[in-house]
Amino acid sequence: MKLLIVGGGGREHAIAWKLAQSPRVERIYCSPGNAGISSIADCVPIQADDIAGLCAFAKESAIDFAVIGPEGPLAAGIVDEFEKLGIRVFGPNKKCAQLEASKAFTKQFLDRHCIPTARYQEFTDIKEAILAIGIYGWPMVIKADGLAAGKGVIIAEDQAAALSAIKELMSDKVFGSAGDKLVIEEFLTGIEASVLCFVDGKTIVPMASAQDYKKIYDGDKGPNTGGMGAYSPSLIFNEELENTIRNLILNPTLAGFMADGLDFKGVLFVGLMIGKDGPKVIEFNVRFGDPETQSVLMRLDTDLLDIMESVVDGRLADQQIKWSEDRTICVVLAAGGYPGEYSKGDIITGLDAMPEEILIFHAGTQFAEDDPETKIAGPEAVGNFSLAAAKCSPPSRSSVVTAGGRVLGVCARAKTSEEASAKVYQAIDKITFNGVQYRKDIGIIVE
Ligand code: AMP
Ligand code: GLY
Repeated sequence: MKLLIVGGGGREHAIAWKLAQSPRVERIYCSPGNAGISSIADCVPIQADDIAGLCAFAKESAIDFAVIGPEGPLAAGIVDEFEKLGIRVFGPNKKCAQLEASKAFTKQFLDRHCIPTARYQEFTDIKEAILAIGIYGWPMVIKADGLAAGKGVIIAEDQAAALSAIKELMSDKVFGSAGDKLVIEEFLTGIEASVLCFVDGKTIVPMASAQDYKKIYDGDKGPNTGGMGAYSPSLIFNEELENTIRNLILNPTLAGFMADGLDFKGVLFVGLMIGKDGPKVIEFNVRFGDPETQSVLMRLDTDLLDIMESVVDGRLADQQIKWSEDRTICVVLAAGGYPGEYSKGDIITGLDAMPEEILIFHAGTQFAEDDPETKIAGPEAVGNFSLAAAKCSPPSRSSVVTAGGRVLGVCARAKTSEEASAKVYQAIDKITFNGVQYRKDIGIIVE
């Protein structure tokens, strides 16, 4: 089969790595991909939000199966467009993608189906939003309704901070039309956890648990990021909590999808706050999490293509899914300055010569522009595609440079978390680029 993976981050590298292990996969394309992905797939320089371009490419290249990584194209309806072309595609349609693209849509859904979540109100009028400052006490949670690259949530500590957040979102439009509507909600306390699930419209199957670290600095300090690391399985999950989450949240969510005519197929990412009075939903995402995916897929012992096809075909209930008992850790190496302004084009060294149990998933990387061999493969190129490279071998050239905020995910797999942690940090010691920053406490629970 010929596959197309849409996206170009660490999540897509992990998905490509896992799919390349399937004996039925003949060739993988990735749009736009990155330097690391090019060792497994033909990277095609079409951006993930260029839906017309991706449709044209998929048709011309006779793609059999597509996998959509990021939320942007899902929210813009890429799945509906691929389906119109008769291309099988893994990911939810536009209607279902509102569960990530609109916080108000999700809050209404949760309330309608009595699924535990923070109390909330929605506002389209700035004067009314200002009058609602402090209605649930402090701190106050203020959210842009639409997609804002993970930055649309502000936790305001006082009146002045709340006022300026509302103005920035609604009148300065720092996130454009995402701030046309606001959701103001009660602040929840507890431990945050995320559960990734496969959903085929009729069945919901949670994956192995994982824990993400959202803050930039050790000890959960500093501003939020896309995610600075993850480990699996999560130390806070046990059978009792898993059953509670299934009964109070996952099963009612699936029943809600069916009642509302949401034919959800793909990955549902459930962001939870586990507090004294049980788990509550903070948010839904409609895709694999990044970097949770890297740590989770390393423990998957079943062919990912089989699972994805069973989701698309509505056969998930009959699909076996096996997870390894091993522990995995993924530590993100980020560019200096991230999540604020950061530089690009810094040379990365030390990527080769990694031991077997270390995998490096690339996120913001590319080959240096002056490298004559860096042309990204076009549709016709056989390029450097090699299924034998499914081991995630390093790009063969040394001129890999930084091209994004989150640059690499260095991951290890071992029998114990201590071993995995030791291995990952030993590997990180060998990798350098200008300004590199990473957390040293991934895998250690932080409350
Ligand atoms: P979201 O984009 O909705 O996941 O929010 C981003 C982050 O803001 C979450 O991961 C939480 O850390 C925090 N957050 C969002 N909503 C709440 C809430 N109601 N109470 C406490 N923290 C929240
Ligand atoms: N790691 C959080 C996310 O993917 O949104």
